[in-house]
Amino acid sequence: MTMPSNTQSYLSDRGAQAAFKPVRVDWEIYQKAMENHYDAISKPDGCFPMNVAENHLCWDLLREKVQKVCKEKTIPDWVSSYGDPAGVPSFRQATAEYLSEFLVKQKVDPETLAFSVGATSTIEMTAFLLANPADTAVIPAPSYPVYTMDIGVIPEIKRYDLQTHHELHELQAGIPINTEQLEAAKQEIEAQGSRFRLLILTSPDNPTGGIYSQAQLESVADWCEANEVHLIVNEIYGLSRIDISHPELQKDYPNPIPFLSFGQLMAKRKSPFLHLWYSFSKDLGISGFRIGLTHSYNADFITGYRNAGLSHAISNHTQWVMQEVLEDREFMADFVAASQSALTQSYVIVIRNLRTLGIPYSPSYGSLFVWMDLSEFLKEDSEQGQHQLWLEIFEESGVLLTPGAGFGHSKKGLFRMVISSIDHEALEVAITRLKKYILNMRDRNTK
Ligand SMILES: Cc1ncc(COP(=O)(O)O)c(C=O)c1O
Repeated sequence: MTMPSNTQSYLSDRGAQAAFKPVRVDWEIYQKAMENHYDAISKPDGCFPMNVAENHLCWDLLREKVQKVCKEKTIPDWVSSYGDPAGVPSFRQATAEYLSEFLVKQKVDPETLAFSVGATSTIEMTAFLLANPADTAVIPAPSYPVYTMDIGVIPEIKRYDLQTHHELHELQAGIPINTEQLEAAKQEIEAQGSRFRLLILTSPDNPTGGIYSQAQLESVADWCEANEVHLIVNEIYGLSRIDISHPELQKDYPNPIPFLSFGQLMAKRKSPFLHLWYSFSKDLGISGFRIGLTHSYNADFITGYRNAGLSHAISNHTQWVMQEVLEDREFMADFVAASQSALTQSYVIVIRNLRTLGIPYSPSYGSLFVWMDLSEFLKEDSEQGQHQLWLEIFEESGVLLTPGAGFGHSKKGLFRMVISSIDHEALEVAITRLKKYILNMRDRNTK
């Protein structure tokens, strides 16, 4: 990343802040790791960048379909013109049907959808339209570090990391959120002169892979509606689900939580305070296509999104290609099944090894991650100690995990591994390298 050479860059105050603040602390090292990426034949000593949430497991299938569309179909005239900034009607219709069939499992009205370039812009637009500058968004910790920038840079909303637990074993029966915690957060935020305006839940969660039960969603929604807090459930990993009935995994879920899309609850309540986010970046593995959306029964919010979203509109060509793909239901059903099966296989490879090592992890229902506890190797129980350990793991094993910094969690020494950015064979090599590092560390520590 190029850093400005001096403080006289002739930028605005906001521009200067942006110029000196990288999006993520691991971005620079990620670029370097990508240049030296492992390859079984040409770079067997290369490294494994497993810190960025990419899903490459079924790109071959989707690429073939996209290429077929581009080869066989004529591009319609509307593609070259301006369109509805919140998504052209035919694309909104195709996506509504996809969501109805695969995610929400009940009819989604295309008029309740507004699109923009990836979940990133969806999050920014939502914060911009639903909260005022200096309002607060509460997010259960640990959570996606980039939320801070998405809600902070343009909408100027503050992030509050709600500590629902400290140790991983507290997640065994699900993410322990309750309305007493929300009430306490509200009082603390108000005492600081701000307003609790947004509650953001991610389900399945990044990084823990946890999901919220129907009872939790209902009670949190009741509380939010009563307190005029907008509740948004980010279901960006909604179809990236692990098959928890897999024989090697079953025992981690003694009381399994059924996945319920928040869309079902929204359809029942049709409240102006309840919303859902989705994106094609993870479940379909096409982060580069930049397609994100908000689903809401708040008609003014959707209209505001359309009016304020001109600079965030998705290219019509992208919308057309994806509409053609989504309309092939049989292909989509096969794709979703293949993707979930490949993801489960990746998850099993990692969990099998963590179990033999006795490394604690959060049992995942979905997402592209394993969230593990490596705190036994911390030289110092602090942010700094955590950062050092993260670098050391990379230097010694070539495995680049996501550092805990920015996830907002109280416990140090927890790391996220992205399990879907490399194929199964490479994943076996990566986990063997990590295993070697762990065994060496334990050996060193006992001497
Ligand atoms: C929870 C969450 N929200 C949003 C995003 C950003 O998604 P997009 O690539 O669609 O902007 C990510 C990406 O990692 C994520 O994990």
